[in-house]
Amino acid sequence: MPRALRCGILAPFPGDSFVTRSMGRPGGWRPRCVRMPPGAGAAKNQQGAQTETMTRVLVVYYSQTGQLHRILQALVAPLEAADGVEVDYQPLAPQRPWPFPWTLLRFLDVFPECVYQDPPPLQPLSADADRGYDLVVLGYTVWFLSPAPPVTAFLQSAEGRRLLRDTPVVTVVACRNMWLSAQAAVQEHLAAAGARLSDHVSFVDQGSSLATFFTTPRWMFTGRKDRWLGVFPRAGVAESEITERAPRLGRALAEAVAAGRVDGCAPVLDGLGAVHVDEGLIASERIGMRSFRIWGRLVRRAGPPGSAARKPVLAVYLVFLVLMIATVVPVTLVLRRLLQPLLAPRLRRMRAELEAPSGSARHRLEETQR
Ligand SMILES: Cc1cc2nc3c(=O)[nH]c(=O)nc-3n(C[C@H](O)[C@H](O)[C@H](O)COP(=O)(O)O)c2cc1C
Repeated sequence: MPRALRCGILAPFPGDSFVTRSMGRPGGWRPRCVRMPPGAGAAKNQQGAQTETMTRVLVVYYSQTGQLHRILQALVAPLEAADGVEVDYQPLAPQRPWPFPWTLLRFLDVFPECVYQDPPPLQPLSADADRGYDLVVLGYTVWFLSPAPPVTAFLQSAEGRRLLRDTPVVTVVACRNMWLSAQAAVQEHLAAAGARLSDHVSFVDQGSSLATFFTTPRWMFTGRKDRWLGVFPRAGVAESEITERAPRLGRALAEAVAAGRVDGCAPVLDGLGAVHVDEGLIASERIGMRSFRIWGRLVRRAGPPGSAARKPVLAVYLVFLVLMIATVVPVTLVLRRLLQPLLAPRLRRMRAELEAPSGSARHRLEETQR
């Protein structure tokens, strides 16, 4: 095998989060798999006898503009409508919320803490960590290739870990289009908490990578999501994804819950196109994450978040970012085209691993087309 393939941007190496830790095995880690009947969650954390048979579902999420919240509501609606299922929502609220729309400086200033997953203080959770849930739906967005900070704070907190322990989890990501590193980080936290990943569902912004490169930042910096200049689509996840695809996946989840099949031992949303990994973004995420780590370290050394001392470093970083996008991105695109025949089998394998556990296959779609 050519050295470029063994040691280059696509080769696993120790310490690389989303290749070695998550991609090493299809489906990532799978801790002890204990099948639990519906209602077992309520009993598992409480002292004394507990006879309830309701299936308890907790939906944990952080959504700044409300987009992810809408997606989760659409996905969870069939569960809420089902008999014997009780759904609680746990929005995560940072004690010091970020502004929306963002200013460029605030946006850049937040990146080192995102990449190094510094947990911001959260407002107290309303969910009772000792209540016990049979299923957790964990919704997150991606900030600088990492789970949004309130979600990393939840995943690292003692209360969050108690809620997740021994519990099947369905992760739902909604972002521009780059969620691979973030999902690897989420999976690591879930493993540390002793949770079991049942399924993963992805929603990405509509339009090509090139289009969202403009539409997503425009939305973040101006708050505007409308069609733009007659060529760019609306920003964010397409309406049909929210009003059709999310409920379809939700119906399948509700059926699996009713059948007592959601145990974190095997996916229940397979064959439904729950995720899609764009092979073209695998290398870009790795390059981006490496540069974020290096620059994040430099910015953190310059001063704490919001400090004046950070500003010059952030200004240099911005210039670097623009130059990198103008040079490295086109070069990578050309290289990818040239190396396509050599890379294709490896990329296909990586894609299948990254799409686990639910996968991108769509052979069960007809079942849920109602
Ligand atoms: C600070 C910041 C950084 C972001 N970084 C990424 C990113 O690295 N990859 C990505 O696909 N989306 C990124 N996004 C887009 C978000 O994942 C998400 O789509 C958007 O914030 C809307 O989500 P919400 O309003 O439901 O919270 C970023 C958004 C923000 C605010």
